[in-house]
Amino acid sequence: MTPRAAETGAPVPAEMAADSAVAVAGERQGAAPGRVGGLSNAEPERSPQPQLATEQAEPLLSELSSPGAPTHELPALDVPDPDDLPQGTTPRIPEIGELDVVRHFTHLSQRNYSIDSGFYPLGSCTMKYNPKINEDVARLPGIAHIHPLAPDETVQGALGLIYHLERLLASITGFAAASLQPMAGAQGEFAGMLLIRAYHQARGDTKRRKVLVPDSAHGTNPATAAMCGFHTVAIPTDRDGDVDLDKLEAELDDTVVGLMLTNPNTLGLFEKRLLEVTSAVHRAGGLVYGDGANLNAILGVVKPADMGFDVLHINVHKTFSTPHGTGGPGAGPVVVTPALEPFLPAPVVVQRDGAYALDHARPQSIGRLSYHGHFGILARGYTYIRMHGPDGLRQLSETAVLNANYLRALLRDVYDVPFDRGCMHEFVVSAKSLKAAHDVRTLDIAKRLIDYGIHPPTIYFPLIVDEGMLIEPTEGESKRTLDSFAAVMRQIAREAAEDPELLHQAPHHSPVRRLDEVTAARKPVIRW
Ligand SMILES: Cc1ncc(COP(=O)(O)O)c(C=O)c1O
Repeated sequence: MTPRAAETGAPVPAEMAADSAVAVAGERQGAAPGRVGGLSNAEPERSPQPQLATEQAEPLLSELSSPGAPTHELPALDVPDPDDLPQGTTPRIPEIGELDVVRHFTHLSQRNYSIDSGFYPLGSCTMKYNPKINEDVARLPGIAHIHPLAPDETVQGALGLIYHLERLLASITGFAAASLQPMAGAQGEFAGMLLIRAYHQARGDTKRRKVLVPDSAHGTNPATAAMCGFHTVAIPTDRDGDVDLDKLEAELDDTVVGLMLTNPNTLGLFEKRLLEVTSAVHRAGGLVYGDGANLNAILGVVKPADMGFDVLHINVHKTFSTPHGTGGPGAGPVVVTPALEPFLPAPVVVQRDGAYALDHARPQSIGRLSYHGHFGILARGYTYIRMHGPDGLRQLSETAVLNANYLRALLRDVYDVPFDRGCMHEFVVSAKSLKAAHDVRTLDIAKRLIDYGIHPPTIYFPLIVDEGMLIEPTEGESKRTLDSFAAVMRQIAREAAEDPELLHQAPHHSPVRRLDEVTAARKPVIRW
């Protein structure tokens, strides 16, 4: 631990404790203690140098390899013996005992930050706890080992799961029908806008090319509109954090395809004049696409179909557990009004003569987007919904909203709160004042949180908030965890005033220190 951390008394988790001076993108911390492996036969064997636990880097398996080390006995070869291969083509396989292999991978796993290991308030990503029963279900052989092209009669259970999950999602959101085919939120958006395009085309209304997107939207929204061949017009956010209705109305004409709207929006606010917004778009002949990534906040309380949306995508992987922030598998089903149902991706699971079957006869369909979606994630989401039931889902949304408002109240006298009104499941704070007073930016605060063993919130999103942090505690966190996060955030604000350099240099206790962010993004070094 550095003297500075000792002064602040920061709790430093073991997995973050390695200290080094590496500052180059992707560079591994410290050199391996010493090569002892069979892969470096040409080099003289060196003894590992003693190192304190806080300084230890994790060597590669090839660096741990030692020629002749007792390893597993493999069964007799039924392919050519590598020793008989021409020289130079022998595979370079590390020679390591089982214990060292287990330790190597355990060390690496401990460097992974996860919800199971700590608080993860990554706004907009809904990094909620993933109950272990989800994993039990997803691993059932009848779910994990089936093939997407298996004959219908051999996979009745799986087709039944698709059929019933579609109906559950439609019922939760108030829509007529659903498709589970989109494999992520972004693909759900794409599906939604293709459905709206198909709707206009089927009516011969082909002059509509303009998609309206609020300036607070997730970047995938305008990208989706562009992929569908439309151009976008950004609608500003008003002073209260809502869509600027006057500016929206000024853009409405007979070239409007529709509006892509997130509600609750990406500022964590429920659009106050939502019904006026959706009615205005409908009056102009456009449709309203709902980005339902924030459905987590309103389950069992209000249905998006009642708000005037025509199609909504659902991030199953956030709303119904299986968080996937910063990558990972997802599922982005769409739910639609009766007017859009004929265009849903085909095939559709139907019930015929008491059995489930795939119906391919959908002449107006936008086509196939995947086989049956990301089935493992869908099975987890289905389990989550059935385990909670209607009352449980409502309770989780209410708790998510309560937790976010509680945290907001604990932080609002220390950080700027640009839209200071009751929030939904997440809220935005800003470090604008800390930047003006002490030259401490949101990025510095995020890096310092790592020293306290906490995953930073989403930063600099939505783009419209200067020095913004989007904080989403989720419903699963205890009051104790929320209180300790608030205490850390308040401590960091004090550090900003007393010792800004401490924050400029943070993190001090992670396997790699402050990276050159631009080089890390543009020239990532991810192998060596
Ligand atoms: C508001 C919003 N829209 C769309 C998406 C895209 O979802 P995905 O990452 O599954 O593609 C996200 C992702 O978190 C989101 O927060």
